[in-house]
Amino acid sequence: MQKGDRYGTHRVLSPAGTLPQPAIQLDNTMEIYDNEMLIDVSTLNIDSASYTQIKKQCHSNAEDMKNLILSIVAERGKMQNPVTGSGGMLIGTVKALGPKFPHNNKVKVGDRIATLVSLSLTPLKIYDIKHLNPKSDQVDVNAEAILFESGIYAILPNDLPEKLALAALDVAGAPAQVDRLVRESDIVCLIGGGGKSGVLCCYQAMKNVGAYGKVIVVEYSKENAQRIKDLHLATDVIIADATNVMDVYRKVMAITGGRGCDVTINNVNVPATEMTSILVTKGQGCVYFFSMATSFTKAALGAEGVGKDICLIVGNGYAKGHSELTLNIIRESREIRELFENLYVPAVDKEEGDNENFLY
Ligand SMILES: NC(=O)c1ccc[n+]([C@@H]2O[C@H](COP(=O)([O-])OP(=O)(O)OC[C@H]3O[C@@H](n4cnc5c(N)ncnc54)[C@H](OP(=O)(O)O)[C@@H]3O)[C@@H](O)[C@H]2O)c1
Repeated sequence: MQKGDRYGTHRVLSPAGTLPQPAIQLDNTMEIYDNEMLIDVSTLNIDSASYTQIKKQCHSNAEDMKNLILSIVAERGKMQNPVTGSGGMLIGTVKALGPKFPHNNKVKVGDRIATLVSLSLTPLKIYDIKHLNPKSDQVDVNAEAILFESGIYAILPNDLPEKLALAALDVAGAPAQVDRLVRESDIVCLIGGGGKSGVLCCYQAMKNVGAYGKVIVVEYSKENAQRIKDLHLATDVIIADATNVMDVYRKVMAITGGRGCDVTINNVNVPATEMTSILVTKGQGCVYFFSMATSFTKAALGAEGVGKDICLIVGNGYAKGHSELTLNIIRESREIRELFENLYVPAVDKEEGDNENFLY
């Protein structure tokens, strides 16, 4: 068995010298190195920004979407959308473990797991796309994937349906960062707060700000906005297009009395909302750009351009303890669990999970 590098650089075909995420092409031979895990993949959860782009390019035609996904993976050896650069995550069964793969989680062959590293760096070979619904970013496949020694994963919990766990874990980094950033009595703004990650962030923000803080959601669709109101997941809800900077700015300032927000979380799945996030945030405040449609250039130069000394955080999808925190939200809130089951879990997978244990 060949010896692999901790970070998977042995899988990089081009360009030489880089790591798997920024690489253009990976070696997706499904023969493991001594420090890798081989996974029999059942479902991919394609990242929302990527899926939205694929759907748009294919005019929501399921066959065209399947073909596009297959061609990306055939070309790159991983599911990395060439336009958005983003990936997603997967669930599957552990098929083989190299002798040097870290065993501190006591993972074993046959365990059902979710990878917590992006598909944009995961060697993947799709043999067949079994089911794709343009309305759901969960795509059922017959495929195999490789996890590197440095790759993180969660053994799927036994008290939640698998696809529900997959939907929540896909965005686990966001509520975990909210927990770190938001303090009691803060004013928080969630741009695109009515979507999947937004709802989880709202729940955590409401918990952290307490009785005297504010959680302001900016949401595009009336339906999503109403849902946030019905679930009492915000103190204020603004229905607006977040790309319309000055409109949102005026509405947020009206709520905050011109003060602006301590923390802004960007959860949209469309480009051009950087300046909205920056303008609604107070000086010395903080913006967490979870959205994969964020432009570093627009955010960095835009903040400078308007003279805003604020902390801009790139949406690292990993935060220590993020999987437990996120799954606990689903366990704590019956309403959010029902919402996720209705919106993000395909009907065929709504039965209870039957996995052995949950670890991270
Ligand atoms: N950093 C990471 O590691 C990581 C991991 C996973 C995902 N992501 C990214 O995080 C973002 C959110 O993911 P998600 O799964 O939560 O997506 P989602 O469920 O699709 O939510 C996006 C939300 O943004 C709203 N929105 C879209 N355009 C808007 C606009 N112009 N103004 C106001 N609201 C708007 C959407 O409303 P409508 O439904 O009405 O359009 C929706 O409620 C995506 O960009 C995704 O790629 C990042």
